[in-house]
Amino acid sequence: MKRNVILRINNEEYTVLTKTNRTLLEVLREDLHLTGTKEGCGEGVCGSCTVLLDGRPVRSCLLLVTEAEGREIKTIEGLAKEGRLDPIQEAFIEHHAIQCGFCSPGMILTGYALLKENPRATEEEIRFAISGNICRCTGYVKIVEAIRSLSTSEGRR
Ligand code: FES
Ligand code: FES
Repeated sequence: MKRNVILRINNEEYTVLTKTNRTLLEVLREDLHLTGTKEGCGEGVCGSCTVLLDGRPVRSCLLLVTEAEGREIKTIEGLAKEGRLDPIQEAFIEHHAIQCGFCSPGMILTGYALLKENPRATEEEIRFAISGNICRCTGYVKIVEAIRSLSTSEGRR
């Protein structure tokens, strides 16, 4: 069955005519061309498809598009403001926490949500928060350092 689904993404409203059994990930990438959200496993394991739903990280490959109606969706495209990268994006660059970049949108959004909820996140809390996001390249150390550089316990925010 197809119907119009209204989505609020990065503070803008989109109306999408879609089958109701499609995932949010499919609609983001295929219909709205918001391809910053990556598809890795497609089955909820890798975290590369992470977006924020009402500020919380979710796997968009596991979410029906209809389940995202009426919620605030944030994708990696929504982090930069007025042409300036968010501090967490800058931190990933500064700390060389990006190699191939495939995991980065999900990793950055997960770190962003953690710091909003817990601005003094410790290394242990950061490692726990990103434990569902798989990175094949970096060995995680630089990713943890990047997120930690913004935690107030490190005096940066
Ligand atoms: S693509 Fe969604 S968790 Fe891997
Ligand atoms: S930077 Fe390549 S998978 Fe993380």
